[in-house]
Amino acid sequence: MSGIDIAVFPVGGMGTRFLPATKAMPKEMLPVVDRPLLQYAVDEAIEAGISQFVLVTARGKGSMVDYFDQAGELVAILKAKGKAAELAVLESTQLPPGAICTVRQQEPAGLGHAIWCARHIVGRRPFAIILPDDLVQAKVGCLKQMVDAWGRVGGNMIAAERVPEHRTKSYGIITPGRQDGALTEVLGLVEKPKPEDAPSNLAVIGRYILQPEVMDILSEEKRGAGGEIQLTDAMAQLIGVQPFHAVAFEGVRHDCGDKAGHVIANIAYALAREDVGPAVRAYLKTL
Ligand code: G1P
Repeated sequence: MSGIDIAVFPVGGMGTRFLPATKAMPKEMLPVVDRPLLQYAVDEAIEAGISQFVLVTARGKGSMVDYFDQAGELVAILKAKGKAAELAVLESTQLPPGAICTVRQQEPAGLGHAIWCARHIVGRRPFAIILPDDLVQAKVGCLKQMVDAWGRVGGNMIAAERVPEHRTKSYGIITPGRQDGALTEVLGLVEKPKPEDAPSNLAVIGRYILQPEVMDILSEEKRGAGGEIQLTDAMAQLIGVQPFHAVAFEGVRHDCGDKAGHVIANIAYALAREDVGPAVRAYLKTL
């Protein structure tokens, strides 16, 4: 089975939870320590073997596209000043020519709709999806763990973790079947159920490997929870037709779509760094 070479990044959301910061900048450009959330997502994709990156953007979010340009003037200044460390940082964000492309989602019609907007670029091949809000801190990147598992079982795959029962209404929730190591068979999927209706507390987090047939289902444009076209509903229709597994990934997931989650992610990533870690640790100890 060959690998996955393309990943879709749905980054068209308005980021209302981070106003006023997101009034003039995309939420995906919010930093964790010093790298934007989107950069972490792209780094994770590269580690997993992805060579094509599709950003599904929206009005007012063009700075994300500029971010991936070569910063010629900046590079020249840094070179002239002999700033090798800063040059290396910039170098670490450089993608090969033509590796990144964008498509616009003209209306906020849901995650399923965002993914469907990328259908012509994805074509008829399995593809990955990364939601940059879900930042996974791990020794081996979450998507790499999934691609490795997918190499064994194929089909469709989602990353999953247990959430507190009262939180099921914020997630896609899985009806779990047979478990084999880190893999659990997916028998059902429901978007954002109330705790009393939830089939389990096993939640979908923002990493997917999907077969192209999901695009055919999304093209029916059926509305689901919140009146939006839900990816979860389209995926649910593939269950029983194609293999479908959830992966219990190794690592810590930070919900950076949430203010507290974003602050915690900053602390966790800062503590893991040699440059800023000691100062942050010393401060935390004083609290
Ligand atoms: C989306 C999906 C949901 C998933 C979640 C993971 O919801 O619709 O199924 O569990 O991402 O973060 P959102 O967070 O966009 O409301």
